[in-house]
Parts: sequence; C-alpha cells; structure tokens
Amino acid sequence: MQRSRWYKDAFIYQIYPRSFCDSNGDGIGDIRGIISKLDYLQELGVNAVWLSPCYKSPNDDNGYDISNYRDIMDEFGTLEDWEEMVDGMHKRGIKLIMDLVVNHSSDEHFWFQEALKGKDNPYRDYYIWRKGRGKNGKRPPNNWTSRFGGSAWEYHEDSGEYYLHLFTKKQPDLNWDNPKVRQEVHDIVKYWLDKGCDGFRCDVITYISKKEGLPNGKLNVALLGDEHFTHGPNIHAYLHALNKEVLSKYDCMTVGEGPGMNVKHAIDYTSEEREELDTVFTFEHMHTDAFFQFLPRKLKLSRLKKVLAAYQYGLRDKGWNSLYWENHDQPRSIPRFTGDFGDKRKEAAKMLAVALYMQQGTPYVYQGQEIGMMNYPWKSIDEFQDVMVKNLMGIFNKYAPFLKKVAFWALKKKGRDNARTPMQWNDKENAGFTTGTPWLPINPNYKEINVEQAMKDKNSIFHFYKKLIAFRRGNPLIIHGTFKENYASSNDIYCYERWYKGERLMVICNFKNKEIPFKLPSDCVYKSADLVLHNYDYDRKLEDMTLRPYEALVFKMI
Ligand code: GLC
Ligand code: CA
Repeated sequence: MQRSRWYKDAFIYQIYPRSFCDSNGDGIGDIRGIISKLDYLQELGVNAVWLSPCYKSPNDDNGYDISNYRDIMDEFGTLEDWEEMVDGMHKRGIKLIMDLVVNHSSDEHFWFQEALKGKDNPYRDYYIWRKGRGKNGKRPPNNWTSRFGGSAWEYHEDSGEYYLHLFTKKQPDLNWDNPKVRQEVHDIVKYWLDKGCDGFRCDVITYISKKEGLPNGKLNVALLGDEHFTHGPNIHAYLHALNKEVLSKYDCMTVGEGPGMNVKHAIDYTSEEREELDTVFTFEHMHTDAFFQFLPRKLKLSRLKKVLAAYQYGLRDKGWNSLYWENHDQPRSIPRFTGDFGDKRKEAAKMLAVALYMQQGTPYVYQGQEIGMMNYPWKSIDEFQDVMVKNLMGIFNKYAPFLKKVAFWALKKKGRDNARTPMQWNDKENAGFTTGTPWLPINPNYKEINVEQAMKDKNSIFHFYKKLIAFRRGNPLIIHGTFKENYASSNDIYCYERWYKGERLMVICNFKNKEIPFKLPSDCVYKSADLVLHNYDYDRKLEDMTLRPYEALVFKMI
C-alpha cells in the first residue's frame, strides 16, 4: 500500500479522556463527553486526535495499565461509544491516534493472571521472571529501579521468582523476546486499525527490548538500569517487523514515545527507508529547565534553542520530528517556558505557539493549552493523585522524610497532575467539566480561563491558535522548508527562517516580558515581506525595531 504520510501535514490535539469532559456526572471524563466536543475540535482546526488510553484498566496509572486491549474502560463507555466517536471524528476530517501501551500490561490482564499460576503455564513466558540473588534468593535479580521509585522487581511468593516492572508493580513488563507476545501486539494493532483507528502513539517504546542476561545498571544519582533496556538489542528488528507485517498495510501513522532519545536515535527510528516508526517524541527540550530531569532549574533560552535546532538541522531529510510543549506527563507551558508573564498571559502563550509551530515536524497541542490553562496551586503533597507521586512519597516517608519538602517544591512545578486537572469549559460549576465531583480538583482560575470565554474573545489564545493552525495546514513552506537559525546565543530573542522554493518565512519571538531591541539579520535581503502572524494588534514592517513584551512576528518574504 502506498502510504500518503498525511502526518507531515497533521496538527494533532491530545485528549486525556479522564479529564476532558464528563457526560454522566460521575466526575470522570468519558467517550460520550468527547463526542459532545467534536465540533469544538473541528472549530479549532486540528485534523487528528491522540487519545490517551481508553482500554479496560484498573487505573493504577490512569489507563497506562491495560487489562484488556480490545475493550473500553468501564468509566469511559462502550465499544459502541468508541465507534460513534470515530465516525464523528472522520465526518469532521479528524483522524484518531490511539495509545499503544505494550511495554507492559496490567497485572490484572488475563495473561498475567495465568502467568501467576506457575512456571509451566503457557503465559508464564509472556513476562520477565528471574530468581533472586543472594544465598536464599531474597535480593532482587538485579539493581534496576522502577521509573516510579524503588526496585523494578516484585517477588512472587508462590513461585519463588521475581517479575520485572519498569513502572508500578501493577504494570509488569511484557517479554518481547517471546515471539507469541510480538504476535499478540501485531494482532492488537490490526484489530484497532481494522476498526477504523488511524495510528498509534507507542508508549515508552524505547524500553521494550532488554539486554540478554539483564545485567546490573551503572550506579548513578537517578534511575538504574537504563543502559540495558533503552534502545535494547532487538528494538529495531521488533519495530521493523511490526511495520512490515501490519502498519505498512494501512495508511496510518505512528509516533513513538522516546525516553532516552537523542537526534541520532530519532533518525534511526524514523528514517523512511528503515520502515520502523514514522515520528517520535523526544525529551531533550523538556529537560532544559531541570537538573537530573526532575529538579527545577531556571530556563535559559539559548539552552532550549540549541536542543530544538539540533533536531531541526539533524532530522532534515533523514527523519521526522514532533513539536510539543505539553502533554499529560508535563506541567503547563506557561510560565514554564515564558517566565513570569504579569498581565501578558495571552501574549506569552501566543508567542510560545509561534516559536515552536513554525518549525518542521508534526505539531501537538494538549487539551487546555489552546486556552492557556496553567498549573494548579497545590497546597499540600497529599492532593496529588498521580501514582508516581504516591510511590515516591511512600519511599520518602520510610527512608528520607526530610526530602518531602524538596519533593513538594519540585512537584508543584513539575508534577504530572498539573496537566491532568479537568478541562475548563465555562465559568459555571466545576468549569462545565462535570455535574458531579471531579476526580481531580478544578483550577480556581477557571472563572477567567475557560473555553466559552475564549471563544467570545476575538483576541483570545484560542482564536490565535485557530489562525496559526489554518496558516500552517497545507503550507509547503512550513511542511518542507529548510531551517536556519539567527542569533542562536541570544537569551531574549528566538529568530529563525524557513526557506522553500524562493519563498521565505522569518519568525521573530521575544521571550521576555519587557521590550527588547531587534536588528534585522545582515543577510536579510528581500523584495517584499508580508506580516502573516502577529500577537499584537497593529501593523509591523520587517525592519530594525523594538519588540514589545512577548511579541511574536511571522513575515512571509519573496
Ligand atoms: C508513558 C506515559 C505515562 C505512563 C508511562 C507508563 O511515559 O506517557 O503517562 O505513566 O508511560 O506507561
Ligand atoms: Ca463520566
């Protein structure tokens, strides 16, 4: 089948279903809630949705622990609801990307329940079991740590063996070296593609192949074992097989979540000749405001730009990138990347959109980002629902209670629940998200920041996104143009160009909440320059100028 590679011109909206819209008053978002908002997505102009997991799950990690890959979570609705949702999306020209969580399943999955029955069970080898170390086998098989804290191994009394879980103990890792497991994954992927889904976001896909012998990880300050399961020995073979046998037969897309990925890896996973994944999510830009990935650190614009530029130059003609500021695992992007915005929230949010989405790659916008939703004002660590926080707190309470204060300080800025508070639809009770009690509190700023208000206000962030998306969609200059950065070392200004067939785009962003002088790059010669996007309400010419706080300008030149 000839693949159209439609993802190169997609603008994708991420829905975290639990927090999007609740249709039946139980405080939990659901599929019928999504159906009721499809017109809204169409109005925004996106042409695809990435839906975080909606499969059957005991919700240890909000659906990222799947107990049945072929059915819908009770709280979210039924397969019929799902079908109605896909039809509704397709009617509006919106494609659906499902989340594929196959590094691990839930411990409540039938396969794991069978595996627990004993070493001879045919499903035992679907998971990764080992004997413990030490005289009486009471030490875990190796020193790997779970991404959510503690050992990555859980002891199973009955069989006297441990199983591996890189996330919570309710998320046992699947054994991809077992051909039966790979076949199961192929069948699941085929099942949803045949039902009409248009692609997959592949959860922690860089972790699926573990090094033979499962050797101890190098000692370091953060997590142990990474070097033995990130980009493991068979990963490329496994992804290539999935592509050849299933994905290549559909006009679908894949985006792999890639913890531990750099530019070179991103090329290996997404180069078209290799036929593995189409695109990836990398994390390096998300780490530019942190030490060890989680301790907050002041953002330096030049550091952020350097990472983004490395991907723009590096992936050129070799792979395909994704562009994102937010998702369900990241805090909100303002003020994270803009600093304190004072009374310029709208300008700051619009500027951030321009800075990223004029680059090459597939853009993603996370629910609420298009109205400028912000982190929640947490008052105590007990308010967090995230299983990652709960696990870590358990460990701190036991071994290092003094670290709780530091943890709370870091979590307020970085915690995943920041992105998971319910979507703010209007200024009525519970922000219009639910008529019941929301599963996670609503941000008190919903009176000012909500969809209804944003739709009414001509100058809202929403209307700016709409304009930007319409400008970007189908625009060859943005889809294919080359990238050239100016003033790379500036910590105030982000300025780059895109070039394609005699046309040129000049993007100028002021990242500071104050006036900054701007000089036209010396090689900037052109016949005409039209202002095509601007976050202030007046005309501008392409010339030396003083940029207003957070001013963002896009000129199209010939
Ligand atoms: C990915 C998901 C995250 C989840 C983890 C384990 O990183 O985005 O939400 O907790 O994988 O599945
Ligand atoms: Ca509900």
